Amino acid sequence: MTLTSKWNFPTTVLFGPGRVGELPAVLASAGIARPLFVTDPGLAKLPVVADTLAILDKAGVEYAVFSDVRPNPVESNLAAGIQAFKSGNHDGVIAFGGGSALDLGKLVAFQAGQSRPIWDFEDVGDWWTRADSAAIAPVIAVPTTAGTGSEVGRAGVLTNEVTHTKKVIFHPKMLPVTVIADPELTVGMPKMITAGTGMDALAHCLEAYCAPGYHPMADGIALEGIRLVLENLPRAYADGTDIEARAHMMSAAAMGATAFQKGLGAIHSLSHPIGALYDTHHGMTNALFMPYVLDFNRPVIEERIERLAAYCGISGGFDGFRSKIMDLRTELSVPSTLRDLIPGLRMDDARRDLIAEMAIVDPTAGGNPVELTKEAALALLEKSM
Ligand SMILES: [Fe+2]
Repeated sequence: MTLTSKWNFPTTVLFGPGRVGELPAVLASAGIARPLFVTDPGLAKLPVVADTLAILDKAGVEYAVFSDVRPNPVESNLAAGIQAFKSGNHDGVIAFGGGSALDLGKLVAFQAGQSRPIWDFEDVGDWWTRADSAAIAPVIAVPTTAGTGSEVGRAGVLTNEVTHTKKVIFHPKMLPVTVIADPELTVGMPKMITAGTGMDALAHCLEAYCAPGYHPMADGIALEGIRLVLENLPRAYADGTDIEARAHMMSAAAMGATAFQKGLGAIHSLSHPIGALYDTHHGMTNALFMPYVLDFNRPVIEERIERLAAYCGISGGFDGFRSKIMDLRTELSVPSTLRDLIPGLRMDDARRDLIAEMAIVDPTAGGNPVELTKEAALALLEKSM
């Protein structure tokens, strides 16, 4: 099977090993002459960035690099990015990296031309129509992890430092015009990031698959995405240079984000406040909550999970699938409790209450197949301890 193809769903994806070499041509066809290259500070020091910038240099592309991005981007990162975008007179963004760099790159391209504050464009009702859509700059997304799927998404997540909440900023034109999905760029990912980002892709597929509502297209994409993760994440984790496994994980990540237009659920509702309050790795936090949320939803999703298990060749129905998740967590060294994830964690009743209250108002809570009440969120939190 060839790993190279061209997709136009939901946007154009140039998929395959080595395709980052096409970046100058992609910029030209998007009409971007002076891109701002947005990445994160860790990645900026690695050869993967130097090699990509060398491609731009060789093609004579005028660009500047911006890398002041925290793992969970905050408003000051956005302000600095916009400042760089305007002062460099840039006309588009190359969003290069994992979820934080991709999201911040998309947010800079979106917000640089707007006059209202960013929080006015939170993903609530039709708030996105407040934006001046003609002022949104184009984005080329180049993921270097396989998890977030932000490269095929129409939103960016930004943490509000005042309220310590993660907000989803949405606009249809935030969807990158072209994605270069080159699995070779993910080869250098440390094991922990391979595991965490991969578990995020799995959580996206699984929660989308379990979310209520009629969306067979998303269901089908999620189903195959889950199979790809279960079969390839252990391979990519064991041998980071396994390009075929890396390619399948990159597909699964894009599939998860494509499928979750159907909805997410309580894994993410709990993971978001934990990430906002403790700056934990998003995918690892999801992995921690995954089995408990499966149990909580079991009365409603059991039949669906049986079908999923059968498709993935797992025997034992729901219980078989749950065991598979537990085995995967062990194989990938996922922290087994919240205290393992957050060393030195002390959580009093007020803090638990706060997390539960944040979880039930998280935008993802509405997609959970069983209503996530405050009591339920507290019980799930307790299980994770
Ligand atoms: Fe996620």
